[in-house]
Amino acid sequence: MFNKTVCLAAFAFIGAFGLAGPAAADDAMAPMDVHWSFEGPFGHYDQEQLQRGYKVYREVCSSCHAMNQIAFRNLGDPGAPFYDPKYPNSNDNPKVKAIAADYKVSDVDGDSGDVIKRPATSADYFPSPYANNAAAANANGGAVPPDMSLLVKAREGGAAYIYSVVAKDGVMTPPHGMIVPAGRYYDPYKSGGVIAMPPPLVAGKVTYDDKTPASVDQEARDVSAFLQWAADPKMEERKQTGLAVMIFLIVFTGLLYASYRKIWSDVGH
Ligand code: HEC
Repeated sequence: MFNKTVCLAAFAFIGAFGLAGPAAADDAMAPMDVHWSFEGPFGHYDQEQLQRGYKVYREVCSSCHAMNQIAFRNLGDPGAPFYDPKYPNSNDNPKVKAIAADYKVSDVDGDSGDVIKRPATSADYFPSPYANNAAAANANGGAVPPDMSLLVKAREGGAAYIYSVVAKDGVMTPPHGMIVPAGRYYDPYKSGGVIAMPPPLVAGKVTYDDKTPASVDQEARDVSAFLQWAADPKMEERKQTGLAVMIFLIVFTGLLYASYRKIWSDVGH
């Protein structure tokens, strides 16, 4: 009798906390299935796509989302959107310099001690669009736009999640009976189903330098690829090292086997 009661209580406990918990968090839809150039062991970043993605970030997302952990010079590192082998030191890369100079950062005037704004240099980090979180929340209906440096790593689904949110949110019809509060938009990919970000993209929002037609799908793909790079700038290097190690191990195994055969060749069985 006692055992039965304990068992029932345990089941009730698991039912209430164990199962209800994940079910509540799992109400979000899985991100869309997107094909990326950086997938798989031989995956690589498509530099033109990264450049287009940077343009979308700069002209659309950067007015609300910071990218605090990226310095302008990172844009010119190997594997980065504006890498140019002519400038091994990315600080000298003219594209990187021009991108930096287009931003203003806070500094202190050496003589007067006043806080001033000056054009950024390649050594500076991307400045935040808002002075602080309170100002960011105030401008966005109480929600703070998350920093984008590591967003791809911080969200399940990675780049596909970013793609799904910016390509589909707010434009899909909410399920029958769901009421989306004012200032919120339907977001099936987020637990809870609503987001405080108005759909940021429309077709033709940016004009790509390489003349790629700027559909919402294209803009969403490009900016998601760019954010993947931002969160994992050393991916190409890591994959190349991994490949070199694999080749070394295969050759080494062959050599070991050959020497094993040689050493034991005149020993009778
Ligand atoms: C008008 C300001 C604004 C612009 C422009 C904007 N966002 Fe947002 N974004 C927000 C806010 C505010 C949130 C937080 C929403 C929430 O928590 O409900 C957000 C959230 C997000 C999220 C969900 C993050 C999470 O926590 O899971 C993604 C992904 C995102 N933004 C991507 C983008 C991309 C990519 C762009 C550029 C194409 C962009 N946003 C442009 C305001 C903006």
